[in-house]
Amino acid sequence: MYQENYPQNFPTGFLWGGATAANQVEGAWNLDGKGLTTAEVVKKATNRKKMSMDAVDQVTLHQAINDHTTMLYPKRRGVDFYHHYAEDIKLFAEMGFKVYRFSIAWARILPHGDDKQPNQAGLDFYDRVLTELEKYQIQPLITLSHYEMPLDLTLKYNGWSDRRTIAAFNHYTQIVFEHFGQRVKYWLTFNEINTGTWGFHATGAIDQGLSKQQQLQLRYQSLHHQLVASALATKQLHELYPTDKIGCMLARMQTYPASPKPEDVRAAQLADQKNLFFLMFKFVVNIQSFMNRYFAENKLIIKMGTDDQAILANNPVDFISFSYYMTTVTKADQDGTAVGNMATGGRNPYLKESAWGWQIDPIGLRITLNELWDRYQKPLFVVENGLGAQDKLVNDQIHDSYRISYLRQHIIQMKEAIKDGVKLLGYTMWGPIDLISFSTSEMSKRYGLIYVDQDDLGRGTLTRIRKDSFYWYQKVIATNGTDLSDNQ
Ligand code: BG6
Repeated sequence: MYQENYPQNFPTGFLWGGATAANQVEGAWNLDGKGLTTAEVVKKATNRKKMSMDAVDQVTLHQAINDHTTMLYPKRRGVDFYHHYAEDIKLFAEMGFKVYRFSIAWARILPHGDDKQPNQAGLDFYDRVLTELEKYQIQPLITLSHYEMPLDLTLKYNGWSDRRTIAAFNHYTQIVFEHFGQRVKYWLTFNEINTGTWGFHATGAIDQGLSKQQQLQLRYQSLHHQLVASALATKQLHELYPTDKIGCMLARMQTYPASPKPEDVRAAQLADQKNLFFLMFKFVVNIQSFMNRYFAENKLIIKMGTDDQAILANNPVDFISFSYYMTTVTKADQDGTAVGNMATGGRNPYLKESAWGWQIDPIGLRITLNELWDRYQKPLFVVENGLGAQDKLVNDQIHDSYRISYLRQHIIQMKEAIKDGVKLLGYTMWGPIDLISFSTSEMSKRYGLIYVDQDDLGRGTLTRIRKDSFYWYQKVIATNGTDLSDNQ
């Protein structure tokens, strides 16, 4: 009977949890032998609707290197997870987390990016984190590179634009797999790899002052190197631990055509193809050939090593992970750009938006889950989704019904997708604890279920406070998503 195959709820063992990134939470930017990273030379934005992360040029870079304070560079201080990790993980456990996604800072392990020997204090820190997680049976899901790299590789090679960075990265990944591999089952390579087309934050390559064409050339070349490095890391992991799982990670930008006009529909398809290109594994043949046409028409020459095609083709990832915050609208004669950290495209008149102008579209999550599953038939993992909002602390409490509503609506759509037959491994909402915003480096753009007492200038006690959403998510996890009512 067909009906028997119709799932009713989240599967048993569904991985509920939260996600953070080293450069947004750890702080301790210059402690215990850690090297400076690309994220730590990016200044806080002066306009919260205008992203600042890619505006680094040679002048601002050298100013930052000579400035040894944290004031202008909030990612140097994070929320001091480096010293609060035990307290924070205890709170995650109290919510019932099954998984915690975090990233390893490459420069904590190899301060210059290509050191022969690892920095023992860096390895020790992540060992301590893993020990805490094991105490509560929380699975680690580790991102190998989340929007930062050792700054010395920018100075030496201009980041990922140089092929030599592949070897440096795979030396780092080999060390990390050998050291932590026994304790970790799930890995991700590059966070939101496709956003490398936007510049420095992901490529580690300074490209300010270049023409648009030269920028595109450098960014796609950098991305090619990252794709190869990613495939090589996949190979390393599978050789060491054949049953471990490694995924790629995409900033999923589901695109809607602005109208049923065939030109608009085709334009939307094109935008989608460019987004999905970065889910590089062997059966994406059509999309690869589409990109060859795109490269040729835009006169982009991507240099490849002789083995690159084979490396990419022979090392597919085990699952597809992605972040989901918004959808975009595309039309053939595009003018106007949507506000959002990396969205291009127009605004959707049917959607509401956050205070930062990010359009909120829970049904888009169901659509994208279905599309990805239909197309690739690979297990999926939603590894980021959440609401950045300004919270008000009143009598030591935060009543964040808006955040509950946002998460609730998205989780309902995930459940619908599971009922549609999508194979979903888990959900790590973004920012279980308040952290420094990626795109604007603000503290006041809060995603957390846990409040951190710190303001945009770094003032505060760093005390952690449970928000209403903390108790709500605790209930959702305890019932494995059966109870999605908005009361806690
Ligand atoms: C994703 C990033 O793009 O969006 C995270 O992977 C980031 O690092 C998240 O924090 C939310 O973006 P923002 O700019 O609001 O912090």
